[in-house]
Amino acid sequence: MEKIDPRVIVALDVNNIEEVRDLVTKVGKNLKTFKVGMRLFTKYGPSIVKELKDKGYDVFLDLKYHDIPNTVETACKEAAGLGVDMLTIHTSGGREMCKAAVNGARDGASKSGKKIPIVLGVTVLTSMNETLLKEIGINNPVDVQVINLANMAISEGVGGVVCSPLEVKKLKTQIKKDFIAVIPGIRLPENNTNDQKRVASPDTAIADGADYLVIGRPVYGAPDPVKALKDIYTLMAKVNNVKVNNK
Ligand code: C5P
Repeated sequence: MEKIDPRVIVALDVNNIEEVRDLVTKVGKNLKTFKVGMRLFTKYGPSIVKELKDKGYDVFLDLKYHDIPNTVETACKEAAGLGVDMLTIHTSGGREMCKAAVNGARDGASKSGKKIPIVLGVTVLTSMNETLLKEIGINNPVDVQVINLANMAISEGVGGVVCSPLEVKKLKTQIKKDFIAVIPGIRLPENNTNDQKRVASPDTAIADGADYLVIGRPVYGAPDPVKALKDIYTLMAKVNNVKVNNK
C-alpha cells in the first residue's frame, strides 16, 4: 500500500522512542502527520518533534494547554517555534485564553520564520459523557456544550476544533464560519472502544464532515498496523465527502 490520505493522523501514544520509531517505520510511508501527546512529550521533550519533522512529517502537538492567557500565549509561541503544524488548547480555558493562544502561535511563527500552526480547540473530551459533565458542574447536554465552546473559540480566531464523531455534523451545520473539525474516538467495527465513550467508524465521521481523523489504538494496537490503516483508508474512500459546512 503506497497510499497517503492526509486526513488521517496517527496518535503516537506508545511507550517509548523505540516503539515510536518502529511504528513510524511501519506506517510512515502512508501518513503525512503524526500526533505527539503529553506522554511522549513529557518523556522526550522537543527532540521527538524535531525527529519527526526531520523525517519530513507534519507534527500535531497535542498538549491541550489550559492555563491563564499569558502562560498559554507563551507556550503556543514556543510550540510554533518548534515548527509544529497543529497544536491544541482546552477551549474551556475561556475566550481570553483562546485569543492569547492564537496570538502566541502567530507570534512564535513570525519570530522563528516557521509556518503558523493551526490552533485547535478541544471542546468536550471524547471520554466524557453527560453524567461525567454533570459531576464537574456542567448541566448542558454534551452537544450544547460542544457548540457553545466551539463558537466561542472560533470567534477568537481558533482554526478548528477537536470533537467527537457524534457532534461533528451538528457543528458543521450550525457554525457559520470556516473551521476544521479534527475527530478522535474513531473505531473500526472489530475494535474495543476502550475509554472512549463517543465513537464512530472512519467512514461515518468523514461523511458527517470530519476534516481530519485522529486515530491511536486502532492503528498502533492492531496486530498489523499497516492493514489497519489500509482498512481505514478503504472505508474512507467509500465516502464521497460532501462538505456540510454552510457558510
Ligand atoms: O487510541 P485512540 O484512538 O482512542 O486515541 C485518540 C487520541 O486522540 C488520543 O491521543 C487522545 O489523547 C486524543 N484525543 C481524544 N479526545 C479529545 C482530544 C484528543 O481522544 N477530545
